[in-house]
Amino acid sequence: MAIHNKSHRNSALRSILHSNKENLKNKSSIDFKKPDKSFILLKIDDCVKQLKQLPDESVQLILIDPPYNLDLANWDNYGNYMEWAKTWLDEAYRVLTKSGNLVIFGGTQFRDERSGDLTEIIYHCRHFTKWKLVNTIVWYYKNGMSAHRYFANRHEEAIWLVKTDKYYFDLDSVRVQYSPEELEKALRDPRLVPENVKKGKNPTNVWEIGRLNGNSLERVGHPTQKPLEIIRRFVRSLSYPGSIVLDFFAGSGTTGRVCIEEGRHAILVDNDENTSSYFNKHLENMQKINSDKKFNFVIVDNIEDFLNSLSSIDSFNEAEENK
Ligand SMILES: C[S@@+](CC[C@H](N)C(=O)[O-])C[C@H]1O[C@@H](n2cnc3c(N)ncnc32)[C@H](O)[C@@H]1O
Repeated sequence: MAIHNKSHRNSALRSILHSNKENLKNKSSIDFKKPDKSFILLKIDDCVKQLKQLPDESVQLILIDPPYNLDLANWDNYGNYMEWAKTWLDEAYRVLTKSGNLVIFGGTQFRDERSGDLTEIIYHCRHFTKWKLVNTIVWYYKNGMSAHRYFANRHEEAIWLVKTDKYYFDLDSVRVQYSPEELEKALRDPRLVPENVKKGKNPTNVWEIGRLNGNSLERVGHPTQKPLEIIRRFVRSLSYPGSIVLDFFAGSGTTGRVCIEEGRHAILVDNDENTSSYFNKHLENMQKINSDKKFNFVIVDNIEDFLNSLSSIDSFNEAEENK
C-alpha cells in the first residue's frame, strides 16, 4: 500500500514498519518494558486528512468513539453517514499493524438513512471489507436517563475488529479478581486450572461500568466523555507498553490520558479546537489524583516529530526487536 507522505521514509518509519513481523500472538504486557516517557501527538484536524499522513501498519490499537449523526452536537451531523464512515474504516485498515486491534464504540440507535450506527458498520465490514469481528462488548451501566415511551437504555456496545487471527490480546492484564469465597470454590472446581484461577476471571464481554454523572470527578467538560475504566481495559488488553494507540475522534482525549498512565504512545485527532483544553484538564486531573506519581510525557503537534521521537527511545526499539 502507498505511503502518502514521502518524508515518512526515515529511520522512525523503518523502525515502526519492523512491526510487520508480527509475532505478538502469545505475548503479554510483561514481555515489554514500559517506556520512560510517552509521546502524544495531538492534532486538531479532520480525521481522514490526518489518517492519510500516517504510515502503513504503524498503529497497534485504534480506539474510536465516532459521531453517529444523532445531532448530539454540531460535530454530529454528516450527509451520508456510511459513505463518510467507509473512508476512515479503509484508512484505519491501512494504518493498523497485522496484529493490531480496532475498537469502535456505538449502539443500535438507527433512526433513518442519514443516521449511522454500529449495525450499519458491522454490515459494511462483514460484506465489503476484510475486517474480522472478534467480540461485541456490551457496556452495561445502572445510571441513565429515564424513559416513558420505551425501555430506558442501560447499555452501549463496542465492537472489536482485527485484520488477522494473530491479533495481540493480553487477557491477564484485565482479569477480574475473585472474591475470597468465589476463589475457594473455583479452586475446588476440577474443570478449572488452578494457576489461571489464581490470576482472576475473564471479565467476559459484558462490562458493568458506571456512566459519568454530571458531577463526576473525571469530567472535563466534553458532552460524551467515556469513563477511564472502559478505555483502560481496552488499552491494557489490546496494546502493549511502548506501542502506538490511535484515537481519531479523540473528544476530550480520554484515550491519551490512559495511554500516559499505561505507558503507551498516542495519536489523538479531533476537529474540535476545544479538544486541547479538555485534554489539559484531563492532565491536571491525572496529576491531582496521583499526586505521589510523576508522569513523564511529551506532547508534540506534528507527525514527523512524533515518529522521530519514537525512533530515538530505547524502549520503543527494544519492543520492536522483541516481536
Ligand atoms: C463521541 S465524541 C468522542 C468522545 C471521547 N471518546 C471522549 O472520551 O472524550 C466524538 C468526537 O468526534 C469528533 N469529530 C467529529 N467529526 C470529526 C472529524 N471529521 N474528524 C475528527 N474529529 C471529528 C467530535 O469533535 C467529537 O469530539
